[in-house]
Amino acid sequence: MNVHATALADAHLPDEQTSVFARDAIGDLSQRPKRLSPKYFYDTTGSELFEAITRLPEYYPTRTELSILRDRGDEIAAFVPNETALVEFGAGATTKVRLLLENCAIGAYVPVDISGDFLKGQAETLRQDFPRLAVYPVAADFTAPFPLPPAIAGLPKVGFFPGSTLGNFEPHEACAFLRSARDILGAGGRMVIGVDLEKDERVLHDAYNDAAGVTARFNLNVLVRINRELGGNFDLSAFTHRAIYNRERHRIEMHLISRKSQTVRMLGTSFSFRAGESIHTENSYKYSLERFAALARGSGWTPLKSWTDAAGLFSVHVLAASD
Ligand code: AVI
Repeated sequence: MNVHATALADAHLPDEQTSVFARDAIGDLSQRPKRLSPKYFYDTTGSELFEAITRLPEYYPTRTELSILRDRGDEIAAFVPNETALVEFGAGATTKVRLLLENCAIGAYVPVDISGDFLKGQAETLRQDFPRLAVYPVAADFTAPFPLPPAIAGLPKVGFFPGSTLGNFEPHEACAFLRSARDILGAGGRMVIGVDLEKDERVLHDAYNDAAGVTARFNLNVLVRINRELGGNFDLSAFTHRAIYNRERHRIEMHLISRKSQTVRMLGTSFSFRAGESIHTENSYKYSLERFAALARGSGWTPLKSWTDAAGLFSVHVLAASD
């Protein structure tokens, strides 16, 4: 057993989820450069902070995608067969799916999310607002294969993956996700997917370094979680949020920068930081229309049509499963 494994074995963590978080955090902070996975942003506070981000004046993706779904609703609906089972990969706020439910001939809605409680609440509000809609929530990690509910077996299937969540995957992970979605939806399946576009670097910079500091709090929240759930002693005032655009790799990178030389402890393990040293916490890849179409083609999908807003900030694509 190495020194980290011994510390973990002695830690008496409350559940499996926390043990996995501990293993990931210790492993990732032991890397050079240090990193932490963006999936740990989203506890209750992190999810609330992300909702606040979506309402910021600088953060254009959410309102721009909504405007495309609203303005192009009829055109998108033309690609959605009658009585479709709509499978949403990851269930966030219901605002976007409502636009599809209002415009398209949806027979059943299958929200898929790792958080079963969140799904139940979401399914309940949709059942109230769309009483004739059959809702079959699936509690699963949507990045891995999962079975669809038997009740939708005979219906045409359309996947929905809004918000440019695909951009938070490394390119090989994005390809793997699209392939897995293709397998889950099956032959004849389609996909409606929102993808953030490359653009003026100042627009990107401002979207991830907002003046009110909400993105900074979202980023720092991962350290708050380590302190609370893993007994860490990160001094939040000794780390600062930084988001930079990496032009070569077409991505916004989020970092937490140590303001000074310091040592932090968590579960009996020490991590030393140099002044200016970074913890790399997130990548948000931006695509051109062509690069996204090439990714889709290489992942088992045929691009059918795409739409952007007038300023070319964001895109929505309809894909069909390739034979
Ligand atoms: C969830 N995801 C698409 C967001 C993004 O823009 O990459 C997460 C985010 N990170 C900072 N601001 C928003």
